[in-house]
Amino acid sequence: MNIAVYPGSFDPVTLGHIDIIERSCKVFDKVIVAVMFNKNKKPMFDVGERMALLVDATKHLENVVIDSHEGLLIDYLIERDIKVLVKGLRAISDFEAEFQMASVNRKLCSDIETVFIMTRTEYMYLSSSIVKEVASFNGDISDFVTEEVKMAVESKLGGKHERD
Ligand code: PNS
Repeated sequence: MNIAVYPGSFDPVTLGHIDIIERSCKVFDKVIVAVMFNKNKKPMFDVGERMALLVDATKHLENVVIDSHEGLLIDYLIERDIKVLVKGLRAISDFEAEFQMASVNRKLCSDIETVFIMTRTEYMYLSSSIVKEVASFNGDISDFVTEEVKMAVESKLGGKHERD
């Protein structure tokens, strides 16, 4: 079985992430979306909440599993004998960080390959951070996330309040 792991913070999952998951599902027999704990980030959603939103956002896909992991990403793959990591690549600005992560992961475990899927142009600007920022200023995030994520973000921000 051709299995790949798509790791990330997913705080929260965006339509850009869903696009990468959908396209990965066409290439691999099974895609494990791994919600990673990141000690350096203060998330809006805890890992359980992020996983629940991902389960809902991917319910139309049969070959997706949502999981979580705390620690080194490559340990997750080694423990399960998985050899492929999938990452989404947006603008050139992503390249440096992704190149660094792929290089470190390959240095730590030479068996593991990182495969990059280019984001669709309509999602090039999209990130979980920008979604949270727009929502925090009461902007409309309907074009960026699913309805469930939109409601969850607005609920975290204390409900959508009226614009002046
Ligand atoms: O969605 P993000 O925050 O860009 O995802 C980054 C993530 C979680 C994939 C990356 O930070 C990661 O792999 N963290 C796990 C810790 C690790 O393995 N670090 C060494 C590889 S760079």
